[in-house]
Amino acid sequence: MTNAGAGKPVFVCDKCGNETPKWEGRCPSCGEWNSLGEVRAARSRGKARSRVVGTAAQAEELSQVDAGRFPKAEISLREVNRVFGGGIVPGSLTMVAGDPGIGKSTLLLRVAADVAGTGREVVYVSGEESSAQIRMRADRLGVSGKRLFLLQATGVDEVVPRLDAIRPALVVVDSIQTMHDPAISSPAGSVAQIRETTRALTEWAKAADVPIVLTGHVTKSGDVAGPKVLEHMVDVVLYMEGDPIGSWRLLRAVKNRFGSTNEVGVLEMGEGGLRDVEDPSKEFLSERSAAGVGSVIVPNLEGARPLLVEIQALTNRSMLPAPRRVATGLDYNRLLMVCAVLTRRAGVPLADQDVIVNVAGGLRVTDPGADLGMALAIVSSVRDASIDPDLAAVGELGLSGEVRGVPQLERRVAEAARLGLQTCIAPAGKRAAPVSGGFRTRQVSTLRQALRSAFSIPPPPVKEGAN
Ligand code: TYD
Ligand code: MG
Repeated sequence: MTNAGAGKPVFVCDKCGNETPKWEGRCPSCGEWNSLGEVRAARSRGKARSRVVGTAAQAEELSQVDAGRFPKAEISLREVNRVFGGGIVPGSLTMVAGDPGIGKSTLLLRVAADVAGTGREVVYVSGEESSAQIRMRADRLGVSGKRLFLLQATGVDEVVPRLDAIRPALVVVDSIQTMHDPAISSPAGSVAQIRETTRALTEWAKAADVPIVLTGHVTKSGDVAGPKVLEHMVDVVLYMEGDPIGSWRLLRAVKNRFGSTNEVGVLEMGEGGLRDVEDPSKEFLSERSAAGVGSVIVPNLEGARPLLVEIQALTNRSMLPAPRRVATGLDYNRLLMVCAVLTRRAGVPLADQDVIVNVAGGLRVTDPGADLGMALAIVSSVRDASIDPDLAAVGELGLSGEVRGVPQLERRVAEAARLGLQTCIAPAGKRAAPVSGGFRTRQVSTLRQALRSAFSIPPPPVKEGAN
């Protein structure tokens, strides 16, 4: 993987992480200009030593390996614990990634305090905030701070010896972008630095059997190579998402060597920090107005978890030559597609309408199963026709106006029934067992059928393909 011998420098691209033996103005791998940084030889000290001295590694029979020497560290937030796969595994490296201000430090201070609360030491390495700032946050969270040690340091060469001396039960590093290895000339936050500091921390974590949790910032476009490089190096990658203005936070497992990547934790950020959301679907729908125009409930699937979300649409006569399309929490290109299908396949004229769609509560929906809900909400707004507030809709739209199947329909429908809805418009073909009592599933195979089913007034009979 690395060219670096004991004395030879290598040059690492900040954009893609590619290594070259000599400096070039342009990265030969990704073509980025002026992105190569020198990694001096000191960084492969450990490697060189093991090659020269040849310390004999002991082979251990798998059956003799003790997997339970140290128990997993449990976290008091049930939702977080679940995403971790039941707790933090000893010796593991976890990255919690997310936009700045989303609540990573708040989450990790809680996690650190939980482990310290079990009577073991925890080290919180902070390169971003002063001890006083962290203390203020701790007061806000009601965390005592006993056995929680703050380490204001950014050099791995300072941090690792301190960790060795304290031998804590958990280490938090906030954030990996602020850490640096003095042996490397690139600035902190560059790919070369992130890679080397993570490597040093991983080596320590595995040797000491102590878990480390890192935070990492990602940019909107996700083109920062740093966190992407990190994803390959760590055991668990969790993404924290949500609208920083709103209070919901989703914690999603993107990679987990010890648990399922289908897990999603739902949390709420409040005055006293993060709390578990007991019944997410119920809470997401609690602020819904009873009016029912331009609002549809969609049983969405987050990982393996069905969650009911409210999709809202507002259409308005446009003053612009090219009407506006705005999607918040939904994919813009899917909105364009849904508008085109509505016009061409169901005769809903939108050419002179601005169309705004939104997922209530600042949530983000990427599941194509939300297409049908988006379409119904738009039609409801254009016609000013209300939709039964006890109706849910799910289905992916095809370009010919067909309603396509979605994974795990039965579980989605069951979630809608559980929360007291009465009907779900769903794709035909797949079996969606009627769940209980009066709940009904209305199966449709085209968008037109879905519109007929959702609105008492049937859509005007227009020629297929009309604009
Ligand atoms: P923070 O954890 O600092 O975010 P990150 O580390 O991801 O950059 O969280 C910052 C936001 O969280 C900030 O806008 C304030 C808010 N917050 C609360 O709403 N309640 C709280 O109890 C705390 C500690 C923070
Ligand atoms: Mg922070």
